[in-house]
Amino acid sequence: MRKPALNTIEVVGTKIDTRHYIGGQRVESAEAFTNTSPIDGSFLGDICRGTQLEADLAVAAAKKAFPAWAALGPKGRGELLLRLAELVEENIETLAQLETMDNGSLLRSHRRGVMPRVAMNIRFFAEWAMNELQHPDFETRGHTNKISWDPSGVAVLITPWNAPLMLATWKIGPALAAGDTVILKPAEWTPLSASFFADLTKQAGIPDGVFNVVQGFGKEVGAALVAHPDIARISFTGSVPTAKVIARSAADNLTPVSFELGGKSPCVVLEDADLDLAVELAVEQYDNAGQVCLSGTRILVHESIADSFAEKFKEKALQIIQGDPRDEATQIGPQIHQVHFDRVKGFVDRAKESGANIVMGGEPNSDLGGLYFRPTLVMNPDADSEIVTSEVFGPVLCLQTFKTDEEAIAMANSTEFGLAAILVSGNRERADRVAKEIVAGTIWVNCFFVRDLRAPFGGSKKSGIGREGGNWSFDFYADVKNTVVSPNGWKE
Ligand code: NAI
Ligand code: MG
Repeated sequence: MRKPALNTIEVVGTKIDTRHYIGGQRVESAEAFTNTSPIDGSFLGDICRGTQLEADLAVAAAKKAFPAWAALGPKGRGELLLRLAELVEENIETLAQLETMDNGSLLRSHRRGVMPRVAMNIRFFAEWAMNELQHPDFETRGHTNKISWDPSGVAVLITPWNAPLMLATWKIGPALAAGDTVILKPAEWTPLSASFFADLTKQAGIPDGVFNVVQGFGKEVGAALVAHPDIARISFTGSVPTAKVIARSAADNLTPVSFELGGKSPCVVLEDADLDLAVELAVEQYDNAGQVCLSGTRILVHESIADSFAEKFKEKALQIIQGDPRDEATQIGPQIHQVHFDRVKGFVDRAKESGANIVMGGEPNSDLGGLYFRPTLVMNPDADSEIVTSEVFGPVLCLQTFKTDEEAIAMANSTEFGLAAILVSGNRERADRVAKEIVAGTIWVNCFFVRDLRAPFGGSKKSGIGREGGNWSFDFYADVKNTVVSPNGWKE
């Protein structure tokens, strides 16, 4: 229990403030928590550990900044947000290095995919608010209905560690563009990119209090934020148990929530599928060491092609290069944290104990040590076993077989989740029919991870509440208003 020793730390040559960012100022806490790198367990620095006090300060600052930010309108806000997007682009290398040190995801994918996408998240929603967010007026017996998306107040954003800045800006972009002020509480395992991003918002000229970052644990400062009576929105990405806790807090104030929760998505391979494509898509599900909410972790293959599929799959998956995520050749890095590593290993160990047939991996990578877990394939596990029904969030895939499309659909829909699905088939009509029956927020047919910011994104069943993306984001972050104007009573 101590204050962070330093107000700034240096990580890969970049100065990072270890304090909160509240009302445009750096604010320290009485206590700290330790942040480490999953790459090698090295100590990155002590970070301020927020409490009720900092939650109250942040809400007060965001509330104070709200009227002026709301009054700026989409154009005034948009100009500042476009500047922020440019600053992200100018700092892609720094952000990529930081994020890789902090969460262990691949540096090359941060550089080329994720951080450019972060800039796009901000630019897209700023432009959408300026140019696209409108509804045509319509008449009711001579009265005009005018639909608008009005700023709603303070939005609290609680984000996970698997894609920290990417998932945060997917919320920050639309919330700020909608005219809300924002408090971001990043995951305690990945505090760095949010702190650096706060500096960028300052540089972009975003007024003090419009964007705030509070660091710390979910159960402490996170819980204080979501229970606060003065907030207007809660957007959360993370686990189902935490979502339930947040929903209970939100209920006291009837604060609207948007939840993007986990998944146990199916990757369905019909017998008419292009086998090489199917294998390629299935092996991709190990990406980010399996720490992806959308992962198709249940590979469901028609029994007539299951043997050849499994052969090709193993051949390809065994070539995956696991190692330091900063190396260009690396395809899979470590798990985020010892606690998470133990959780993943626990799932696999229990599967082994219950007699599951693990045909690949199934253990830590002893060549690398640390938090590196080998890509794992569980063959034909029992349909109701834990490894099939629970989200592992590690490099662990299950392969099951089916006989008919109907059986494939039933298996695809057999978990409590409904975030995403992948369907591989050579026949458009059949693919259409099967896709229609699968319950999921997103279904990728003969592809994976194609994401357009205009599209709705979210989960069915226990995978979430609500959709974000395009207009759907604004429907959540804004107060949607209908102004009905009568033809009568006018004096001029
Ligand atoms: P978590 O859901 O507990 O953490 C996500 C965020 O919620 C973090 O910022 C955390 O500080 C915050 N949080 C935790 N308790 C809170 C509370 N009472 N009030 C407010 N905020 C709170 O996830 P965790 O423990 O890191 O991972 C557990 C499992 O969750 C993973 O193994 C995985 O299965 C799933 N998960 C799913 C993610 C997704 O993308 N849908 C992301 C991260 C985890
Ligand atoms: Mg870290």
